[in-house]
Amino acid sequence: MEMPTKEKAIASNRDAWNDSARHHKDSPEWQVLLNAVARRGFSCLDDTLTGVLSEVGVGGKDVVQLGCNNGRESLSLFALGARHVVGVDQSVAFLDQARELASRSPHAPEFIEADIHHLPLELQGRFDVALITIGVLNWMPDIGEFFQHVAQALKPGGALVVYETHPFLEMFDPETADPYALASSYFHSEPFVQTEPIVYEGKIEQQAAPSYWFVHTLGAIFSGALAAGLNIRHFKEYPHSNREELYDRYQRQEAQLPMCFTLVAQKG
Ligand SMILES: C[S@@+](CC[C@H](N)C(=O)[O-])C[C@H]1O[C@@H](n2cnc3c(N)ncnc32)[C@H](O)[C@@H]1O
Repeated sequence: MEMPTKEKAIASNRDAWNDSARHHKDSPEWQVLLNAVARRGFSCLDDTLTGVLSEVGVGGKDVVQLGCNNGRESLSLFALGARHVVGVDQSVAFLDQARELASRSPHAPEFIEADIHHLPLELQGRFDVALITIGVLNWMPDIGEFFQHVAQALKPGGALVVYETHPFLEMFDPETADPYALASSYFHSEPFVQTEPIVYEGKIEQQAAPSYWFVHTLGAIFSGALAAGLNIRHFKEYPHSNREELYDRYQRQEAQLPMCFTLVAQKG
């Protein structure tokens, strides 16, 4: 398959997420969420992310979540005392869901449709904290460029908090007969392409716009952040999974893989 330009990959990822949105709404989790967000103290953040965000401190701060999807995590930031929260995503269909959740919530986040690579001027230099959670870094064709855009959104001294899947996991395929066989190179430079809707559990045998998943090594992530003027203050790896259920099988092993990481980087 011919690889698209960066711009085409980003646009196709947007179409793929839009094509996938209705499948996420068709789930029991969505119904649970609709009721849960009505609580003032609602949070879907796990202990790991809650701990890191509490250490960084979001109380009274202006926070942006880049790649906010249906906004459930953006809404959760109010439970940690955030003053104002902006969720940014390029999928209008997921932002519709985010606005629906917000309409049930006592809080008032702002949701903005934008490609992270083209953040509107009004978002630049505005935030104390920028949050990126599971399943965002890998949609970025160029991780260095991505961090430059993230840095632009922060005030001087502002902190980027990342809670992502570990790139070591990309070397394994949980769906093969031997899920521990090395399936692809850590240095895989071509994106993985999927043409079915993007769902977190199982598969939907339908055609969707191709989505392009790029693997970034830890070295590329660190160098990209540093080159964007983001000084790494914290980095920690964990043995638990923060991604699709399919990956749970790699947890609680004698020879344990790192499954996810948190990173905090501060704008100089
Ligand atoms: C896996 S979801 C994030 C899910 C979130 N961590 C959660 O648990 O609710 C990734 C999101 O990133 C968004 N995204 C991907 N590429 C983007 C880009 N270039 N600009 C803005 N959003 C993007 C997608 O539309 C999608 O909603």
